[in-house]
Amino acid sequence: MQTFQDLLTRQLSRALSAAGFVVAGEVVPASDPRFGDYQTNVALLLAKERGDNPRAVAKKIIAQLEIAEWSDPPTIAGAGFINFHLKPEAVAKHAAQLLNNARLGVPLAEPLHRIVIDFGSPNVAKPMHVGHIRSTVLGDALARIASFLGHDVIRDNHIGDWGTQFGMVIYGWKNLLDREALARDPIAELVRIYKQTNELSKTDASVRDACRTELVRLQSGDEENLLIWKECVALSMKEFEAAYEILDIHYDIQRGESFYNERLPAIVERLLKSGLAEISEGAVCVFFREIPELADRPCIIQKSDGGFNYATTDIATVDYRIRDLAADTIWIVTGAPQQLHFRQIFEIARREGYSADFRHITHGSILGENRKLMKTRSGENVPLRDLLEEAIMRARKIVEEKNPDLTETEKEQIAKIVGIGAVKYADLSQYRMTDYVFSWDRMLSLQGNTAPYLQNAYVRIRSIFRKIGGNFTVPDELKLSEATELTLAKRLAQFAEVVPQVLNDFRPNLLANYLFELANAFHGFYEACPVLKSEEPVRSSRLALSALTGRTLQQGLNLLGIEVPEKM
Ligand code: ARG
Repeated sequence: MQTFQDLLTRQLSRALSAAGFVVAGEVVPASDPRFGDYQTNVALLLAKERGDNPRAVAKKIIAQLEIAEWSDPPTIAGAGFINFHLKPEAVAKHAAQLLNNARLGVPLAEPLHRIVIDFGSPNVAKPMHVGHIRSTVLGDALARIASFLGHDVIRDNHIGDWGTQFGMVIYGWKNLLDREALARDPIAELVRIYKQTNELSKTDASVRDACRTELVRLQSGDEENLLIWKECVALSMKEFEAAYEILDIHYDIQRGESFYNERLPAIVERLLKSGLAEISEGAVCVFFREIPELADRPCIIQKSDGGFNYATTDIATVDYRIRDLAADTIWIVTGAPQQLHFRQIFEIARREGYSADFRHITHGSILGENRKLMKTRSGENVPLRDLLEEAIMRARKIVEEKNPDLTETEKEQIAKIVGIGAVKYADLSQYRMTDYVFSWDRMLSLQGNTAPYLQNAYVRIRSIFRKIGGNFTVPDELKLSEATELTLAKRLAQFAEVVPQVLNDFRPNLLANYLFELANAFHGFYEACPVLKSEEPVRSSRLALSALTGRTLQQGLNLLGIEVPEKM
């Protein structure tokens, strides 16, 4: 199936060449429904280029357009916009086709790619905090959407399991560890010894030296230190897994930094040999002298003490993903502070001859009510697990109030779906670069652009179908006689236009906002049009519109990693 946007774009291209213009015109949804359903500014662009009158150019294009099957005769508005108004019969026919289309009209991408998506990627022996939420939730949504569009997606968790933090962790383990506390809450205890060691090392040079020695021992394969390291990794992984379980987020592979250890010496050698790297003040560096912003920002790939670093690991990671995993596309999702790092890594990869499509997908921060980085009352990072548990608990209260007659099991299931959905949606409905304020009340509200509002629209639809006990056959034709029916059907047709668009600039918020508008359109329809009480054939037609809305909400939310309950 083709979307209206595609059909109109194709016909516009045809008309443009028939009128003797050599440009590709773009058709986009109208900015204001009063002007129509779709519009193009191609006449304005052409007129400017040629010094012609835009309205005259628009007339020439319109004279060549063959779109009577889907659109009323186009109108010219303002300085020369061409506006398209879809014909209700065409919209009805399209909606009937959507009802029989398993993909809700969403076309497969072309060409298809093998994409490694590196997202989440928390650090061992440090708690996974709310800052990791954004990367995790955003990466998961992008992975779901890319898979749905047909791409071959490999989800990779690039765990920070091999860094300088281990010098301190191992020192703390040997000198400060409280075994009982470790058994009770492993991560909290690991963080405590790490922090205490960090404090000590600030004032005590002997502690600083001892940490360095522990790190060198670990890196040179000391048995005892390796065992401690392994235990820390295992304890942290257990904690991460618990959070992924609650979030319903899963990885295909988890290649932590340590996975690349053995490959690092060869990487440095290779870069030195090819002349891409050079020795400067005892360290091995790659310079970017001809790139103004990077001219005084060399990338160190081996420190003067012989140690490798984050950059060396990431160069090895590029190799692995392209050579071993055969990826042609790599997306890395992290906070904005890592921009310089990946700019350098991608530049090195390009110089080494890699032609894969590298994208660093960055995001802003989550703020507390005081508009500063979100922290607990004592000034700590908010542990992710605590946050997720609180979300579920708060959602539970809402369910309890809204529908006290549900069974305990139902309440529990719904609370999880609503609470986790609310946290994910609050994030995904924002443009990823925006810093946003974390507000329980706002994200859990049943009104406004929230997960509970969308889930509630879905639940309303399910309850209609429960009332008729499944006695419904999809009609061959829809009747769209009311304005709200037509508006809803047009929105439903746009799902297929919005989903692929998300990947242009990695904006799941486009899909979130679309779903919000869809739920609003459904609301408008539901207020104005009786469904079960109407006469045939209108009744079946309205049921079909409702069913299609339900499926679209469910599929759309699923692409954002959000579930829908049957009741709430
Ligand atoms: N562990 C890093 C952090 O928490 C993110 C890793 C991102 N991926 C990568 N290939 N470097 O900031």
